Amino acid sequence: MRVYWLEQTEADVPPVHVPQGNDWLSAEETVHFNTLRFAKRSADWRLGRWTAKRAIAFFLNLPVHPQALANIEIWPAPSGAPEAFVENAPAPVAISISHRDGTALCAIASSPVDLGLDLGCDLEIIEPRSEAFVADYFAPEEQVLIARSSPAERARILALLWSAKESALKALREGLRLDTRSVIVHLSDDWSCNDLSDPNRWSPLQVQCSDGQTFHGWWRSTMSIVRTVVANPPPDPPILLDLSAGFRQGESFDIQTRRQTTKKAVFAVQR
Ligand SMILES: CC(C)(COP(=O)(O)OP(=O)(O)OC[C@H]1O[C@@H](n2cnc3c(N)ncnc32)[C@H](O)[C@@H]1OP(=O)(O)O)[C@@H](O)C(=O)NCCC(=O)NCCS
Repeated sequence: MRVYWLEQTEADVPPVHVPQGNDWLSAEETVHFNTLRFAKRSADWRLGRWTAKRAIAFFLNLPVHPQALANIEIWPAPSGAPEAFVENAPAPVAISISHRDGTALCAIASSPVDLGLDLGCDLEIIEPRSEAFVADYFAPEEQVLIARSSPAERARILALLWSAKESALKALREGLRLDTRSVIVHLSDDWSCNDLSDPNRWSPLQVQCSDGQTFHGWWRSTMSIVRTVVANPPPDPPILLDLSAGFRQGESFDIQTRRQTTKKAVFAVQR
């Protein structure tokens, strides 16, 4: 299955305090945005929405001017998992969002609206974490992997394992309601050889869940950030949505056609 990804930073988003700076949000989203009282949450939410809308627009070959982006909305399901809508109708995509310290990641894949494939992505900053964090949140086999890593690698493998857990918990639509030790990450033996320079170079991972299912996924790391993407069905290595390219990389999505045809016919998915 093909999964695509897009990363955006604060610098990519229209400034918040200028006239029309939020025109790419819908009226309802603007109302919600204005209820967010904490500056960090507000900035994270706005950046996550921007990144997801740009990914959805590009993926579905929709226009990207602010009013067109305002027609794309992302609302949480009761679980908290993000769901995409275009002109108030469910969009034939699965998305997952992560944001941290001025960077947001969105993973996106074709998905019939009535099926909903399982997709999760996460980005984590590579930073020191305590022994207590490892003891509390990681399964014994993950703790062995961490203990075996060199001091130089420790922060990166911790970020990587944590990120893969969060991706799986998002794909399960549970988040931290589940015990993080109930999802166990497996990496290939050469995990530390990940190439930092190529945006399309991802390394494989698996996450084994306590309910018996296994998510297949991918990770890639730059100097300070680790990203992971997991999905079911198993995804191919994630493909970067190249916003500078003028051609469509995702699913054909014509709003007029969609209105005239049954959901099932239009939302047929290429896997
Ligand atoms: C999912 C979760 C682990 C992500 O936490 P995080 O690492 O701090 O944050 P990230 O930036 O990586 O991801 C946040 C995004 O995850 C997504 N998300 C939230 N809950 C989700 C869920 N149950 N399933 C899938 N995705 C979820 C959202 O899109 C969210 O961004 P948004 O709120 O701006 O739309 C965490 O939010 C969680 O456990 N949520 C479920 C538990 C819950 O609902 N707690 C009460 C919250 S009020």
